[in-house]
Amino acid sequence: MKAVGTASGKIILMGEHAVVYGQPAIALPFSAVEIRATVSAQGEALTVSCDFYDGLVHQMPKIWESLKHAIRFSLYRIGAPSDPAIHVQIDSTIPAERGMGSSAAVAVAVARALFAFYQKDLSYQELWDIVQSSEKIAHGNPSGVDAATTSGKQPIFFIKNQKMEPLDLCLDAYLVVGDSGKTGQTLEAVLDVAKLYQNKKEARDWIEALGDLTRKAKLYLSSGDIRELGQVMNQAHGLLQQLGVSDDKLDLLVETAHHQGALGAKLTGGGRGGCMIALVKNRAQANILAQALRDNGACQTWIQYLGE
Ligand code: PMV
Repeated sequence: MKAVGTASGKIILMGEHAVVYGQPAIALPFSAVEIRATVSAQGEALTVSCDFYDGLVHQMPKIWESLKHAIRFSLYRIGAPSDPAIHVQIDSTIPAERGMGSSAAVAVAVARALFAFYQKDLSYQELWDIVQSSEKIAHGNPSGVDAATTSGKQPIFFIKNQKMEPLDLCLDAYLVVGDSGKTGQTLEAVLDVAKLYQNKKEARDWIEALGDLTRKAKLYLSSGDIRELGQVMNQAHGLLQQLGVSDDKLDLLVETAHHQGALGAKLTGGGRGGCMIALVKNRAQANILAQALRDNGACQTWIQYLGE
């Protein structure tokens, strides 16, 4: 008997960091990358294998605590034994710690696979509880935007502790995603922003300004105004720089996007490494920009059409 659970990556279009403080974010499932968890009856104890670990779950190193928690907490919620003779195989094309929601996505995929293996229904609330508690270990104070996006199929307008609003995204434009190749530092970045937020009035203004830009972006998404959308993305990157969550590599890739005539560009996700995104008008421009990003140090690029 085998059971499979999947989850996609995610891209935050607007609102990262500010979303932790009750401001809105707009995020999209990013199906170009995904995680697949396969659970099978195998061996004599609970084991897991993935790119970075192969062995007993209870011996997993501390840095993978959030994954260990997702497995154990799912078993607990299912009412299964805590150390069953099963194997969890994780295959992922989501680059880890690059702002694409890999930690939330792996928890979603694992929970789905384990519930399917034990033939238990997994309610949205139950999935949310498992993923958020695992994200707390990974990120400290997660807004929930990663959990909501990686478990869904639709772009969302997300405000912490509120019912999320699905968005119909239908823009005749392309998003180019560039991976700086540097591991993102979401936990540190979130903690540093929290210090700034507490100690500096300006930082609280920047967070609010990011929220205003996200609300504007929502309007431009529905009116199809890609030029204005590009502008608010540029402004958001400036504010994220002020908050100290960008870095030289991300800035260079964002600059490269500007030189190539992108309508807008910004970092995406936690920052301090990880990925950036750029908005362009057509496929030809997207291809040229993706090449330029790779020429300037991006280790991987993806192109996503924002229409149907
Ligand atoms: O780096 P990621 O993919 O985990 O995205 C984090 C998004 C933040 O807004 C920085 C944190 C959060 O919990 O929303």
